[in-house]
Amino acid sequence: MSNIIKQLPDSVANQIAAGEVIQRPASAVKELLENAVDAGANDIKLIIKDAGKTLIQVIDNGSGMSPMDARMCFERHATSKINKAADLFAIRTMGFRGEAMASIAAIAQVEIKTRLHDEELGTCLKIEGSKVISQEACQCAAGTNIAVKNLFFNVPARRNFLKSNTAETRHIIEEFIRVSAIHPTITFSMTHNEKIVFKLQAGSVKSRIVGIFGKAYNERMLRVEQQTDTLNISGFIGKPEFAKKTRGEQYFFVNKRFVKHAYLNHAVAKAFLELIPTDAFPTYFINIEIDPEEIDINIHPTKTEVNFKDARYVYAILAAAVKQSIGQYSLTPTIDFDVDPTVEAAFTQLPNKDLKQPGIQTNPDYNPFKQSRPTGFEKQQSRQGSQDWEKLYQGNTSAQQPEDETIEPSGTLLETEDSSSFFQLHQKYILSNIKTGLMLIDQQKAHERILYEAYLEQLSGTSSASQQQLFPQNIHFSPEDAEIIRSLNNEIEKLGFVIDTFGRNGFMVKGIPSGLKETDVAAILERIVQNHKEQSGDLNYDKNAILARSMAANLSVKAGTKLEEQEMADIFQRLFSCKVPQVSPDGKNILAIIPLTEIEKFLK
Ligand SMILES: Nc1ncnc2c1ncn2[C@@H]1O[C@H](COP(=O)(O)OP(=O)(O)OP(=O)(O)O)[C@@H](O)[C@H]1O
Ligand SMILES: [Mg+2]
Repeated sequence: MSNIIKQLPDSVANQIAAGEVIQRPASAVKELLENAVDAGANDIKLIIKDAGKTLIQVIDNGSGMSPMDARMCFERHATSKINKAADLFAIRTMGFRGEAMASIAAIAQVEIKTRLHDEELGTCLKIEGSKVISQEACQCAAGTNIAVKNLFFNVPARRNFLKSNTAETRHIIEEFIRVSAIHPTITFSMTHNEKIVFKLQAGSVKSRIVGIFGKAYNERMLRVEQQTDTLNISGFIGKPEFAKKTRGEQYFFVNKRFVKHAYLNHAVAKAFLELIPTDAFPTYFINIEIDPEEIDINIHPTKTEVNFKDARYVYAILAAAVKQSIGQYSLTPTIDFDVDPTVEAAFTQLPNKDLKQPGIQTNPDYNPFKQSRPTGFEKQQSRQGSQDWEKLYQGNTSAQQPEDETIEPSGTLLETEDSSSFFQLHQKYILSNIKTGLMLIDQQKAHERILYEAYLEQLSGTSSASQQQLFPQNIHFSPEDAEIIRSLNNEIEKLGFVIDTFGRNGFMVKGIPSGLKETDVAAILERIVQNHKEQSGDLNYDKNAILARSMAANLSVKAGTKLEEQEMADIFQRLFSCKVPQVSPDGKNILAIIPLTEIEKFLK
């Protein structure tokens, strides 16, 4: 039988390789921008026509190339960035595989003009489907100007596969952002069909983010900073109230290279847990500087994946850094995730400029749950929160307005004869008359949040309030559940339970948390076990959070419970003493505001 195996011609091999590196115009944009960054440019211009399908041009003022290098750069595996295998673990440049230019030239018509800074003449080279058409000396600016025309002209299947111009442009903009956001000392511009899309001056990372995403980001960002012996984390996160409904603005960079990393994303998401609704995504721009030896970036031709030698360590440091940054930002409830301007205005219009929250009239010593749940920490929290709230309420009462301030009169929508501000709707929602309109609060979720934070605080402390059981209850569990109860023994005691074991799987409950009904004991222990089982495999697993959530869910005032005016006032007041009044422990929205302007529209 005759031999049938042949070496493929370079042009075919290049085209196959191009399939991995260049999937769409945006991939070529990424490669060209990265080459310009690697060439040390401080000014990079991107010019696009027809979503990159007709033209992608990148002009840089970087090192430029000699005529010989300009020819060489289109060869496969030709690079100036590494020499030997060991260099793969010391990569500081964006490129190193030596295949981007060869790939692009295999599937497009390319024209490059390039000149070294100390040469008078540059070189102009044309290459098409891997074939060099011409090369000659030419006058050109120092640096490199590369024009990629008619991408996929010789791969119709790929060309037909491209999406609409809008979709392809979106991809290009995304790549432009990924490179420009993390190189703020380089001036970047992007033009599409002769219209300027971005013009970014050199400056700080923050000014770059603002340059890309708009002025509003000045107020939205929190700085993240953490240094250890082996890594340096820096960047910005969006304040929790600006979390997005889509996974839009999430940028991780490792040594200034944009990467996708689900595990690290999880570290950030974890730090935001319970601060944002479960269906929202935090914004972040975070760069991790790490010794290149500690990572492997050469996993995929597009170089957007990275393996860390010690991913768990990076995860822990990152989560801590983000948590710290959120913690330092004093959480002033801004009430509405959508940041309705009228709501913001309502709070900033209050006469006392130091105060940021709306207030209500309430008796700070009144505790509607005194009978059923007179736990120490609840009372304490109630008192603490009330001070601010009382002051704030003054701002909403015309009698106490300072003379030189004019504020709009408080709405009278819900005011009854005794000027009360609360009304219960369907025994489920508390309606409150606030300055800009109507606030709706889910009574059960609000109370869950209040109890959850209180129990969390109790679990992190040492003291616990317990009431002795006159007749100890015996409770039996399955062997597996009994083991869980034993493993949580310390925490359960902190909640106020006094439990002895008897037999292998039996427990004698001698004391229970103050406020808990004896009849609820078995149910709550079962809920704790159940929640623990469901979440112990979770990366977010947090013993205290599970226990506090279980207690809060069991003890909260339920939908369908009629509330007195003072009880509603108490919930309202204590909710806004919470760290996170906007969302319930399981991430659902607790409240909403209907602005007066909307109500007026209804009734037109
Ligand atoms: N804009 C530029 N300015 C100066 N030199 C450039 C420019 N673009 C490419 N080069 C040179 O051409 C070489 C080949 O570029 P190419 O993008 O194909 O490979 P690479 O950047 O080394 O690696 P990778 O394939 O990972 O991008 C580079 O190593 C660099 O020396
Ligand atoms: Mg490159």
